[in-house]
Amino acid sequence: MAAHKAVGVDIGGTGVKAALVDVSTGELLSERHKVATPQGGEPEDIIAAVAQLLKELGSPDVEVGVTFPAIVRHGKTMSAANVSERWIGLEAETLFEQGLGRDITFVNDADAAGVAEQQFGAAKDQQGLVIVTTLGTGIGTAFIYRGVLQPNTELGHLQWKGEESAETLLSARARERRDLDWPDWGGELTDYYRHLELLFSPELFVISGGVSKKPEKFVPFIDIETPIAIAKLKNNAGIIGAAHLAHLSSAR
Ligand code: BGC
Repeated sequence: MAAHKAVGVDIGGTGVKAALVDVSTGELLSERHKVATPQGGEPEDIIAAVAQLLKELGSPDVEVGVTFPAIVRHGKTMSAANVSERWIGLEAETLFEQGLGRDITFVNDADAAGVAEQQFGAAKDQQGLVIVTTLGTGIGTAFIYRGVLQPNTELGHLQWKGEESAETLLSARARERRDLDWPDWGGELTDYYRHLELLFSPELFVISGGVSKKPEKFVPFIDIETPIAIAKLKNNAGIIGAAHLAHLSSAR
């Protein structure tokens, strides 16, 4: 197997993306292949989509890391927010391995993005607590303390203003659905990030997800004490983190 290459696959509520990654630099070595997340987010369909992407990449003989937008504990998916409820309690890692005919490393999507930003991006060399937030279909969070990930923090599901989950009101998709303009979204995110500040006193927030490509539209309207950094790896953080973690687990 090629020592410094791995494939990262990032499964989200809207799209499934994959690329070959140089795990020593975090750079993409291939084009990014992408398909829409199959309607309904059923396990068989998502596994088939990942198989298709690996095929498109030429099924390279390297480690493969796969992210998923749910709590992932010992390879099992323990929640399902923007995918089918059948994922709850499913032996997902094993199912992917059977469907793909190979071993994989399986992690939460925000955790993968957090690890990538810690290794190669905006959270590099930070000593205190960094909270990486992904603003996309949902809201994902990753806690990195002194360079170490504390997995499955799921702060997108804090109860918020009468809703069961903050992400229902505040994710990037919710902004579109609610037709909120960017400054108003920044204003609502201010309350959310202030709440996280109060609870956890992080040293840095990193804003990740597709919207990190246009931070000037909303980040200036987020008025908090804690510094905010924009994800350096943009929308590729999940792919890069998945590949990096797959490589690490093979080196163990
Ligand atoms: C899921 C998280 C995920 C986040 C971002 C949330 O709905 O519960 O596991 O990290 O969306 O995709």
